[in-house]
Amino acid sequence: MASRKGVTFGSLVGVFLSALLTVACGSPGIDGPPGSGGADSAASGGTATGSGGGDAASGGSGASPGSGGISSTGGAPSTGGVLGSEEEYPLPTNLQPETGADLWLRFPVLPIPGRLAEYQAALTHVVGEGSSATDDIVRQELVAGLSGLTGVSLAAADAPTGPGAVVFGTPESSPLVAASSLAADLPALGPEGYLVRAADVGGQPAIVVAGNTDVGVLYGAFALLRHLQSHSSLAALSLSGAPKVARRLLNHWDNLDRTVERGYAGQSLWDWNALPGTLSDRYTAYARACASIGLNGTVLTNVNADADVLTATYLDKVSALADVFRPYGIRVYLTARFSAPQEIGGLGGYDPSDPAVVQWWADKADEIYALIPDFGGFLVKANSEGQPGPQDHVDGANMLAAALEPHDGIVMWRAFVYSENSPEDRIRQAYDEFQPLDGEFSDNAMVQVKNGPLDFQPREPVHPLLGAMPSTALSLELQITKEYLGEDTHLAYLGSMWEEILKTDTFSLGSGSTVARVVDGTLQGQTLTAIAGVANIGDDANWTGSHFNQANWYAFGRMAWDPDLSAAQVAEEWVRQTLSNDPAVVAPVLEIMLASRQALVDYMTPLGLVHIMGTDHHYGPAPWVSDQSRAEWNPVYYHQADAAGIGFDRTTSGSAAVEQYASELATLYGDRASVPDDFLLFFHRVAWDETLDTGRSVWEELVHRYSQGVDDVATMRDAWATVEGRIDAARFGEVTDFLEIQHFEARWWRDACLTYFADAGGQTMPAGYAAPDNPLSYYQGLTCPPDAKKPRCTPIYAGAPSPAVDP
Ligand code: GCU
Repeated sequence: MASRKGVTFGSLVGVFLSALLTVACGSPGIDGPPGSGGADSAASGGTATGSGGGDAASGGSGASPGSGGISSTGGAPSTGGVLGSEEEYPLPTNLQPETGADLWLRFPVLPIPGRLAEYQAALTHVVGEGSSATDDIVRQELVAGLSGLTGVSLAAADAPTGPGAVVFGTPESSPLVAASSLAADLPALGPEGYLVRAADVGGQPAIVVAGNTDVGVLYGAFALLRHLQSHSSLAALSLSGAPKVARRLLNHWDNLDRTVERGYAGQSLWDWNALPGTLSDRYTAYARACASIGLNGTVLTNVNADADVLTATYLDKVSALADVFRPYGIRVYLTARFSAPQEIGGLGGYDPSDPAVVQWWADKADEIYALIPDFGGFLVKANSEGQPGPQDHVDGANMLAAALEPHDGIVMWRAFVYSENSPEDRIRQAYDEFQPLDGEFSDNAMVQVKNGPLDFQPREPVHPLLGAMPSTALSLELQITKEYLGEDTHLAYLGSMWEEILKTDTFSLGSGSTVARVVDGTLQGQTLTAIAGVANIGDDANWTGSHFNQANWYAFGRMAWDPDLSAAQVAEEWVRQTLSNDPAVVAPVLEIMLASRQALVDYMTPLGLVHIMGTDHHYGPAPWVSDQSRAEWNPVYYHQADAAGIGFDRTTSGSAAVEQYASELATLYGDRASVPDDFLLFFHRVAWDETLDTGRSVWEELVHRYSQGVDDVATMRDAWATVEGRIDAARFGEVTDFLEIQHFEARWWRDACLTYFADAGGQTMPAGYAAPDNPLSYYQGLTCPPDAKKPRCTPIYAGAPSPAVDP
């Protein structure tokens, strides 16, 4: 296989995996409460797999922040424990087809007799003394999960009836928990923390699942189940966790007509017409899935908001959903359309300085809280991309914050703002507009910032606002739905991207000012902390449009709970729960996942290219587009390729956007000698024949990366083929089909972009690479996709995409 910078896909992931498999996990004991570095920890016997941590998550890029000198581990590594068993896994027989509806919440009986016997002896009945709705859920989850895994029907009991009780509760709800050895350690864990330990209860060996609140206990139950689903040992079992981020939210871009903006998984889950009378089972299943990965909030509606959701009719429906979600610890939030006082309130305008407008919002908040006492608050997209808003962000956010404040609600005011009329480099605008406002927002108002300054590209540098508003509570917004990353079909594990971002050192308050520390509040001393993920969920049977997209929902939840978790550890957890614990599945699937994001960057937007996707739908390559009404909606604005060179000059000789970063980053990115290749064309305009560290010219490197990305998908496909027969045929076949689509589309991306850049730059294909399949005019003439919700481009699904390097 050809290599980039002398490192092959296989060797790179192999090195990483062997590191993963030889790193023994620590057992840091009980973590502190939110804000004090707590998260998950575990100690037990078994094989030494688990937290990989470190830099490998950039997926093979030699010069990304995740793998270069600019990252930090963000404090003490947190471990997810010691996963798995060394027993040999038999080839499964009689595997039933699965739709994916069960997500990672699957509890098949253990196929390895040693561990099965251990579990059957240690887990014999479930004892819960509490009777809240959440207690009932915990009981149900433990009984069902443990029965499934052990193949023995466990009973629920009021008191231990012998060895092997799984006792759960809070010190208040359960005298057994109050009397247990765990009780003294609980207060340090905060309201959502948990402890799971082997302990003696009434003279019998038991496992105790304890928290300070019922929801904490629920998180503990899911942590125990995760441990067991991974076939890990129960010897000296000790799991603990407390979230590092207070508000861990999904943002649904769901419209009231059930369409989902940037949704590729069917219709919205929320069936507004049938609510509040009819409650779909999927509402409960959704809340359960979210709780199992530690999410505790959901914004139900699109940021491009519809004021109608704030009418009494809709609030009744929202309230019905809130009732379903509450026992799972999930609070609902809504997007607030800034012009609602005019649109549904009958006022003449929506100026925040108008007392009638102020009163309208205060009354609206009262109305909402009367129905939904634990309502979380409002998310607002104002004055951006055609949305109504105030002239001044502080006035708008603080007015809403004042309305919510008596009820303990919050406002999340989005910084995704750029002006229709400004000739300024688009990526500069949010910082220029928001940074001077630092310190002016109310205590219950957050500014919500995307991970990068542009818009959820396959790779972007960190957003310069992160760390730059030390007196403002910042919420980090990530996109789980893969709007710019292959939508439903392409396999791209986003944990790698998020780890890269979270570990990036902003240097804003000196070395070690990682994004993770901005988000968890420790850098700025914030207690109001939040992380939001734009959901990839719809009413498809598999929830997310593809089986591997489920991993991104999972990873978001786990990394929101603990932004220091490694992408590798989270991926391993997911594979074990969702597919199999057989090392013959775990190893190749981890290889695929951890290489996938870099492969996608390479075949779509290598070397720091951004936003060269098809207009509006963002599917497929379209670097040639130049006819959009706004300059910054055109790919040519971003890459600026012509006969002289390629790239956007954001150094001081260009738009000077680099100056928005702390000086260390400004120098790193702004200096041609130090800028990582992954960000080269994002920050610099370079000549085609300039030589890079790889020894290739800019043009040759572009050709190489595009080609390597295509061939890496072939490697992913081949690795996936090895798991046939070890997971059910239905999911195996569906993933196989999508990898085939991805491979064709990777070649499409490569050929379309390279023919275009060759034409624009007057370049020719170097030796050692396959010639593009078609002339530029062919790619420009394609009219894909016919359906932007399940985008496909059938004309290009032909031929042999690989090898693209060294044909
Ligand atoms: C992107 C996306 C839009 C979305 C916007 C936002 O531009 O394409 O669909 O509305 O982000 O985050 O507000």
